[in-house]
Amino acid sequence: MKNEYLPYPAIIEQVGEETYDTKTFYLKLRDGRRKFRYQPGQFVELSIFGYGEAPISITSSPTEETLKLCVRRIGKVTEKLHALRANDVVGIRGPFGKSFPVAEIKGKDLVFVAGGLGLAPLRSLIKTAFDCRADFGKITVLYGARTPNDLLFRDEYEAWGHNKDTELLTTVDTASEGWQGNVGVVTTLFTKTEFIPEKSVAVVCGPPVMFRFAIRELLKMGFAKDSIVVTLERLMKCGIGKCGHCNIGHKYVCIDGPVFRYSEIEGLGGAV
Ligand SMILES: Cc1cc2nc3c(=O)[nH]c(=O)nc-3n(C[C@H](O)[C@H](O)[C@H](O)COP(=O)(O)OP(=O)(O)OC[C@H]3O[C@@H](n4cnc5c(N)ncnc54)[C@H](O)[C@@H]3O)c2cc1C
Ligand code: FES
Repeated sequence: MKNEYLPYPAIIEQVGEETYDTKTFYLKLRDGRRKFRYQPGQFVELSIFGYGEAPISITSSPTEETLKLCVRRIGKVTEKLHALRANDVVGIRGPFGKSFPVAEIKGKDLVFVAGGLGLAPLRSLIKTAFDCRADFGKITVLYGARTPNDLLFRDEYEAWGHNKDTELLTTVDTASEGWQGNVGVVTTLFTKTEFIPEKSVAVVCGPPVMFRFAIRELLKMGFAKDSIVVTLERLMKCGIGKCGHCNIGHKYVCIDGPVFRYSEIEGLGGAV
């Protein structure tokens, strides 16, 4: 039987610099015969042997060859991870958690609303949708970061924008010299494009304050509560529903989420 507490060794194949504090790690399981299967929206527990573990969203899509994790340097484990190079080995447990409801949202227009590092888990679904383009309607990606230097996956925007019936709008809280785009929080982008809420699903991830404002605006525009999908972060330890660290109300984010429809978590203390 699979032991969910046991990390599996994975080799870092490549490291991509996203920003001054965020890198994308391309991983391959050391036992090449083992296929790592996951769905967009799931996460792994990433361990650095001797240092500890951290839950990290899977940023690649199952349609890609390599497992990719986009990680911000913030504390003990992520500092150590950022010091690693190609051919170093890390541990992976998972995949864990509920995925985005990919089959149920087929045929819908997709409106992604991301703030900061929130684009990392959404990228998995964005890439899946682009790789199965005929399965979805219009795709709109609205993405906000603190400054232009904080925008993730910048080298992919051009390719994303070339997809049929796709719109990508970015914004920053504070512009730097040369920035010609929008300035303001991500919800200011809502007025710069058009949605048909009845045929759309909004997928939201970002810092807590962004969730509140984004959901409020989406509801005002006419999105139904079960057409707003969020992916949440909470402090986690086990990742498998045993330690009780990640609960919101009666739900455990690690097994009942991290992906929820807004209708499932509305009113749960401190959910969004
Ligand atoms: C489901 C899930 C998916 C995640 N996906 C990503 C991802 O794709 N990329 C990424 O960079 N990070 C992600 N995170 C956050 C990441 O797990 C934490 O930043 C991680 O704990 C850092 O480990 P550390 O040992 O480096 O930091 P630590 O030394 O443990 O912590 C540094 C500081 O961050 C705080 N902190 C740690 N975790 C959280 C949290 N979840 N919420 C708020 N504060 C926290 C600590 O209290 C401490 O103040 C995710 C978290 C969850 C629960
Ligand atoms: S992280 Fe242990 S119960 Fe969710």
